[in-house]
Amino acid sequence: MSTQADGNGVLELRGLTVERGSRAVVRDVSLDIPAADVTALLGPNGAGKSTLVLAVGGVLRPLTGSVRMDGRDLARQRPEVVRRAGVAIVPEGRRLLPDLSVEDNIRVAAYSLSAEEAKAGRGRVLELFPELSRRLSAPARALSGGEQQMLVLAQALISSPRYLLIDELSLGLAPVIINRLVPTIRAVAAAGIGVLLIEQFAALALGLATRAYILEGGRIRFSGAASELREQPDLLRSAYLLRGSLDAPAE
Ligand SMILES: Nc1ncnc2c1ncn2[C@@H]1O[C@H](COP(=O)(O)OP(=O)(O)OP(=O)(O)O)[C@@H](O)[C@H]1O
Ligand SMILES: [Mg+2]
Repeated sequence: MSTQADGNGVLELRGLTVERGSRAVVRDVSLDIPAADVTALLGPNGAGKSTLVLAVGGVLRPLTGSVRMDGRDLARQRPEVVRRAGVAIVPEGRRLLPDLSVEDNIRVAAYSLSAEEAKAGRGRVLELFPELSRRLSAPARALSGGEQQMLVLAQALISSPRYLLIDELSLGLAPVIINRLVPTIRAVAAAGIGVLLIEQFAALALGLATRAYILEGGRIRFSGAASELREQPDLLRSAYLLRGSLDAPAE
């Protein structure tokens, strides 16, 4: 349960098709999430990014395809099973329990762990987010947007996942907070976790990622080195059809 990836692992998505309202919005998607690395998933609004994350997390049931880890297929498993296998998701617009304290929000996320694992997990996430240790008794609703995002990430990380899928890291956050989170994502990957980062600020995601995928109309339109997209912004621009979300957050 608390095993970290050894650096050789890969979470392999193969041929995933996911329907919403009887329309396939993710179509035959294959994608690798290597351990100890950040992978970017980019794409315009409605591309199917959030749907893909929910399908991997077991919240939506893919019509076809597999999510393989250590030779095991997690596709169509229940969310608790996926989580226990070591795959954590931070869904888009993830909500905290607003009236509960920071401490209790952390405790809720650790409910399936042994007392020992929960204690170790709590120590680790508070080390990663010292801001939260200073606000343990504050109700979650009193936190700033940045602190709330840290708490959401802490909840996902407390069970020592091997893979972490983050849907919209920076949404609604001030640039100074976004910049605060960048080294944290790096540290998470350096600790062995395979991170899939969905991010409206393409430059931010590409700065963190080794590999990148562009999803558009439910299909993978590009997969390659993140540096390729950094150096050839035209590739990215054509996928986004010149939508205005490509810039890095202002300093
Ligand atoms: N609950 C739903 N019922 C039916 N269709 C949905 C539902 N949620 C999303 N869709 C549709 O599925 C498609 C993919 O949506 P999804 O939210 O996965 O895209 P996205 O890439 O995450 O977009 P965004 O960048 O805006 O978050 C869109 O066409 C969307 O309208
Ligand atoms: Mg989305």
